[in-house]
Amino acid sequence: MSRSFPRIRKAVFPVAGLGTRFLPATKTVPKEMLPIVDRPLIQYAVDEAIAAGCDTLVFVTNRYKHAVADYFDKAYELEQKLEKSGKQELLALVRNVLPDGVRAVFVTQAEALGLGHAVLCARPVVGDEPFAVLLPDDLIWSRGDGALTQMADHAQATGGSVVAVQDVPREQTSSYGIVATDGFDGQAGRIRKIVEKPRPEDAPSTLAVVGRYILSPAIFDLLETTPKGAGGEIQLTDAIAALLQRERVDAFRFHGTRFDCGTHLGLIEATIRYALDHEKLSEAARGLMQRALGEMGVVET
Ligand code: G1P
Repeated sequence: MSRSFPRIRKAVFPVAGLGTRFLPATKTVPKEMLPIVDRPLIQYAVDEAIAAGCDTLVFVTNRYKHAVADYFDKAYELEQKLEKSGKQELLALVRNVLPDGVRAVFVTQAEALGLGHAVLCARPVVGDEPFAVLLPDDLIWSRGDGALTQMADHAQATGGSVVAVQDVPREQTSSYGIVATDGFDGQAGRIRKIVEKPRPEDAPSTLAVVGRYILSPAIFDLLETTPKGAGGEIQLTDAIAALLQRERVDAFRFHGTRFDCGTHLGLIEATIRYALDHEKLSEAARGLMQRALGEMGVVET
């Protein structure tokens, strides 16, 4: 039986990863702070959560991620300077990092025990209500509603948890959580099975979990007892596998393009896409790209 799902207000951002793929940049700069055109990666996920109606943002962080907390802190001196010099546009940009009425809460994940454990660390702030989880590495570009808004609408309509999915080539299943559904109608379907990073030959489908979840608070008790899984970590996927024995959990194929900014190529592709879509930089960016391709002999100009 599905119970009624209130609109989500709380969003959890696990940001305690080491970001070793982006060394040496991430020696001092957390990967969530790497810029895509003019904003750090984390800002895109935060904006998506706020657009979906979240007003409490829970960052699960560690001692190396002070830059994330500093970024969401109020910058009094900077704001005063911009105000005095009449730079209203810049002032608005700085203030909108965290709009009025939205609060940021930081909880520490002292040990890197996995994504499931990171989500469990947010329990004292989330309490007993459905909530969102956004993995900032997964950047989702969309023209209409953001992916989380689409998912929140679906959660309200079905009264159950929702996990974002997209199709991947079979040879990539071992990089993702993979779901099998009952009655997938092209956009959504109830999850029957979910496995973390199966080998291609073992994968129950090629529908892969993308880093957006809307979860029932029942997940917390399940996470408390979830043993270490793939990679020796406490996996969110394994707790979801237990959740779907008790409650409805849907896979949801969102409208939008996902960039895996946890990889070099994903970060580059996202940068290109956002530059080409940028209201002020678009035309110039297009010219630069054409020139680069021409000068390097990739295409004829
Ligand atoms: C995590 C999840 C995985 C999911 C992926 C999406 O894996 O454990 O189920 O498919 O995010 O990006 P990670 O990429 O952190 O290893």
